[in-house]
Amino acid sequence: MAKLLAARLSKVSSDMLALPLFKDTQPSKLFKELDEALGGLLTRVVSVGDFKGEEGESLLLYPSGIASPRILLVGLGRKDDVDLEKLRVFGGVAVQRAKELKLRKVAVALPRGLDIDPVDQLRAVAEGAMLANYVYSEKSGDMKEREVEELVFVSTALTPGGDETLREVEVVAQAYRIARDLANAPASKMNPARFEEEVRKVFSQLPVDVKVFHREELEKMGMYGIISVGKGSAVPPRLVVLEYRGGEEGSPWYGIVGKGVCFDAGGLGIKTAESMRNMKFDKSGAAYAVGIVYAAARLGLKMNLVAALPLVENLPSGSAYKPGDVIRMFNGKTVEVGHTDAEGRLIMADALAYLAQEYRPRVLVDLATLTGAIVVALGSVMAGLYTNSDDVAKAMEKAAKKTGERVWRMPLVKEYHDLIKSDVADIRNVGVVRSAGAGVAAAFLENFVEGTPWAHLDIAGVAWVKEDGPKKPYYPKGATGFGIRLVLEFLKIYSGS
Ligand code: BES
Ligand code: ZN
Ligand code: ZN
Repeated sequence: MAKLLAARLSKVSSDMLALPLFKDTQPSKLFKELDEALGGLLTRVVSVGDFKGEEGESLLLYPSGIASPRILLVGLGRKDDVDLEKLRVFGGVAVQRAKELKLRKVAVALPRGLDIDPVDQLRAVAEGAMLANYVYSEKSGDMKEREVEELVFVSTALTPGGDETLREVEVVAQAYRIARDLANAPASKMNPARFEEEVRKVFSQLPVDVKVFHREELEKMGMYGIISVGKGSAVPPRLVVLEYRGGEEGSPWYGIVGKGVCFDAGGLGIKTAESMRNMKFDKSGAAYAVGIVYAAARLGLKMNLVAALPLVENLPSGSAYKPGDVIRMFNGKTVEVGHTDAEGRLIMADALAYLAQEYRPRVLVDLATLTGAIVVALGSVMAGLYTNSDDVAKAMEKAAKKTGERVWRMPLVKEYHDLIKSDVADIRNVGVVRSAGAGVAAAFLENFVEGTPWAHLDIAGVAWVKEDGPKKPYYPKGATGFGIRLVLEFLKIYSGS
């Protein structure tokens, strides 16, 4: 699907050629050959003042004299300020525009004159372009927005290692596609049973073992967090465990947990219609965890990775779990249910404790659309990071910087634990007051990681695109896939590979 070419831009035939331009550099200096073939069009556009090369600026031209009928000029701002994220945005803008125009083949010119490793440049532009190249739509016929079929990245010279990089980015983009499809699917289609089926399909041809625990096994194991939350639904809950053994014999496990609430109506503590509207996305954590394991397996990462996905529907019904219930969890702790809408932490807790106990992982990372409170705190800009380890925090922050999937470390203090003390059980699933809602949820989870180094990513604000964001041209409407590249990079850094 994607190709790398070393060629003259004027000769590359495509439906649209996307050209990155800076604020402080004349196009004729960087793209001399193209400008000449265009009879100085680029120089004129800039000198007339219609295009300044500012970040976020773009202009579509219909040139003659070259092999493509359209040129999209994309501003990247000052040359010295360009970073990997701006390159991702450039790739994203090119494909976003092409999708709107329903184009088939897009050529993306790689930037020139930048002081960044060419392979890193290519990776960033390709990531932006390929992550943008996704449409979730149930529209019929011609109403459906189309994806670009052919992407060509064009440089002046050969880029050593470029083809391999492009293949890797294609795998990662496919991981986002799979993950977004799972998260975008409406609850009518993607209940815990269907989710299990889809996961089995995803891994049928890959060296990943899929184990699924159904109600009977969950009962035997004592996973009453998952069982209780799932009780209100006609579709029983399950725990999907994915094992990828890419490491040497006897090397440690790395663990991932993803929240898989296929629909969160709040249970008997039912949500309002407005706050329930997007709750098909409450399975994003599990969906993105599937993406991570898929990419790890396809890329052949040399590590052992295990992912646990608790899958449930949180619905009100005569058989639903109730406020006041006391639940015995997998690790033996008892939890008093203060609110049935704080269900995520209950299912995550069993999954975390299970991985901690059975796999003794070097680190546990969880992804969960856990709290509305994190959306209030951080908006749609970044995920909340809670961790019991400064080393984990450092590695995660480094991975965030590299991938552009941003995190902000939040405090995880004893006082939050004090807020979930219970009179009748070991702990409650909600605080006595609403204060520090996201921190309290994280503190609850900390009760179940058994001292394992652990990172909790509360992705409630970034898991899907809302009115306010996340605003990135490479996050099309719907599920973002936020965290896939972040966690993959984190695993590389933390494992020292
Ligand atoms: N799935 C929600 C959290 C959520 C809210 C995700 C908004 C994405 C956007 C979670 O299960 C929930 O309902 N949390 C409650 C907890 C409360 C009852 C303590 C919340 O955040 O209001
Ligand atoms: Zn809830
Ligand atoms: Zn939820």
